[in-house]
Amino acid sequence: MRRKLAAGNWKMNGLTASLVEIEKLLETHPDPGCEMLICPPATLIAQVAWRCRNKHLKIGAQDCHWEAAGAHTGDISAPMLADAGASYVILGHSERRTDHEETDAEIAAKTEAAWAAGLTAIVCVGESERQRDLGTALPVVGGQLDTSLPAGCTGENLVVAYEPIWAIGTGRTPSPAEIAEMHDFMRAALVGRFGDAAKDIRLLYGGSVKPANAAEIFGISNVDGALVGGASLKAADFGAIIDALASA
Ligand code: 13P
Repeated sequence: MRRKLAAGNWKMNGLTASLVEIEKLLETHPDPGCEMLICPPATLIAQVAWRCRNKHLKIGAQDCHWEAAGAHTGDISAPMLADAGASYVILGHSERRTDHEETDAEIAAKTEAAWAAGLTAIVCVGESERQRDLGTALPVVGGQLDTSLPAGCTGENLVVAYEPIWAIGTGRTPSPAEIAEMHDFMRAALVGRFGDAAKDIRLLYGGSVKPANAAEIFGISNVDGALVGGASLKAADFGAIIDALASA
């Protein structure tokens, strides 16, 4: 059985004042019925972790370096994130692939670094609008899975998030049939490479998930949860998405 996962990616949003949203979420969802995770900016991880001790809210980071320590000014390593209280880390988000020109090989190295620090990696894949229009979404995502994932992926150390770039922050989503096609394809690709261990890898959908479309998305085959951007910033919206997942 795969535990359903509602993950919020705050991206470059959130100051100390935003911690009130965490408090609200903890108050309204003491026993959420699925796994819930917030990935705040690195500056807030330790404070969120302190508020979440002994609570059902996990904490993740949004990136890590592939080395554990060293001369890399401004970067943060996986052991530092674990030390601050994170148990997950998002890797290879399309915004990092674009803004920082991250390559699949770097993402694979970061995934191994995350594992070495005891973190679960949430590796993001997804096609551009042009690739979708050209009919190459499946092979593009298949290629990203092949080269962004190192050997040894299991349901314990890996979550995959399918985030079509054209659906991120746009209010547009693929049709349920398109999401089902991609998630079934990813499951088959992962099982083909990693065997039965891949049956436990959770597959999240991300891109304009809102309270209004969450239930429909969570009813789709091989969708084990969501990676939510904008709608995770407010406890009321993220809470509604969590409720939709718990009752899916
Ligand atoms: P939005 O939910 O704001 O579209 O962002 C999705 C995303 O990029 C999550 O990682």
